[in-house]
Amino acid sequence: MLFGKTALITGGGGGLGIGIAKVLAEQGARIVVLDMTAEACQHACDALLAEGLDPSDGVQIDVSSADSVARAFVEVDRLVDRIDILVNCAGVREVSSVFELSAAEWDRVIAINLSGPFYCAREAALRMRESRGGSIVNISSVAAMLGMPHRPAYNASKAGLMGLTRNLAKDLAPWKIRVNAVAPGLLRTPLTEPYFDDPAFERGLDHVVPLGKGGTPRDVGQAVLYLSSPMAEFVTGIMLPVDGGWSSEKGYTVGDGPSPYTSSTSST
Ligand SMILES: NC(=O)c1ccc[n+]([C@@H]2O[C@H](COP(=O)([O-])OP(=O)(O)OC[C@H]3O[C@@H](n4cnc5c(N)ncnc54)[C@H](O)[C@@H]3O)[C@@H](O)[C@H]2O)c1
Repeated sequence: MLFGKTALITGGGGGLGIGIAKVLAEQGARIVVLDMTAEACQHACDALLAEGLDPSDGVQIDVSSADSVARAFVEVDRLVDRIDILVNCAGVREVSSVFELSAAEWDRVIAINLSGPFYCAREAALRMRESRGGSIVNISSVAAMLGMPHRPAYNASKAGLMGLTRNLAKDLAPWKIRVNAVAPGLLRTPLTEPYFDDPAFERGLDHVVPLGKGGTPRDVGQAVLYLSSPMAEFVTGIMLPVDGGWSSEKGYTVGDGPSPYTSSTSST
């Protein structure tokens, strides 16, 4: 479905980024992983190779710095002729009460989760504008809709990303650049895996997620695939929840098990 296409994935060395990269690579996309360190990039490239997928490239980037993003895209220009797909997946989250969150931490989360996608989308769109078309997919979160406790900056950044998605969708439509978002719920990634081994945690999930389980990076990757493929050529400006129905629930705090959204390892 994506043969001949190039896909850039920020945060591509993380649990979700690698999952998305695998799904897009399986469909023939050439992958460029963008992440903080050479090690993180290499880790993702090795993971793709280990699955028998075509070799990919890695480029170091700090998405929170407009200068770093500009430099990284110049490096990308040396590697590929065009950019067809950008997935803004790099992200961090704090676990802190309103009273404890420092200004510096607030700024850091907003810079990575919200300014980063803006800087990267702008650089990608400059190139997509030349080739008259492309797809940008921003990885938001159910937190954008539910407003998880103890994550003031994270919630704000992920909700802000929706506003940015809608704006970019309208501004970039004249060049046939589509911009959408995916809002994952709680996912099984290497980081959260130990939690899923705890039966009490699984019970908690049962109470808040109608489908009664966590998602996987592949679940999100398939949503990204849809949005970045020709199947979605008339789709722009949407946020697609991939959350087992979590965001459709009103009473998401009921139940006797621990609640997934207060877990310190959860990055929802
Ligand atoms: N895992 C989940 O359950 C879940 C749920 C909802 C949304 N999300 C979102 O998915 C995205 C990825 O999450 P994950 O679970 O893979 O986390 P992760 O920590 O495994 O991966 C995040 C990646 O982003 C990179 N990164 C961090 N700061 C960066 C920066 N300044 N510049 C470039 N790269 C940077 C990290 O190096 C890492 O590789 C995040 O945006 C997160 O908010 C995750």
